[in-house]
Amino acid sequence: MTPARNLSRRSVIVWGGAGAAAAATVALVGCSTGPRSGNAVANDTPTEIATLSDIPVGGSIVVMVNGKQIVLSQPESGTVKAFSAVCPHQGCIVAPKDKELNCPCHGSRFDASTGGVLEGPATSALPAVAVTVNGASVMSA
Ligand code: FES
Repeated sequence: MTPARNLSRRSVIVWGGAGAAAAATVALVGCSTGPRSGNAVANDTPTEIATLSDIPVGGSIVVMVNGKQIVLSQPESGTVKAFSAVCPHQGCIVAPKDKELNCPCHGSRFDASTGGVLEGPATSALPAVAVTVNGASVMSA
């Protein structure tokens, strides 16, 4: 389980990891402004949404930022990829499992490093979400 951290004025839930079924950390501090557009998860100011140590190398976690569930994967140490955690098939939330993201509703599987479909019924990839790595911090972009 990921330890609770102050993530500054964000409501954040973290779970998943390489094979982890569930864990939860909640930090609820204040309010936030809405996302800008598209798949952006950011407010006007980039904010830490995780640290590299929160994300297993070769695995992924799901975080909630501004009410949107986002997958953060770390295919190589220090490289973070981010995708919407909403399955493009019918909207269920995918779950990290090792190097994949599995949809519990109808069995679609996605590559956690690319968001690409490994197995349907989903026919489109998980949409990419912009994040940046600043030192050990994963920041909304
Ligand atoms: S909602 Fe994900 S496979 Fe159907």
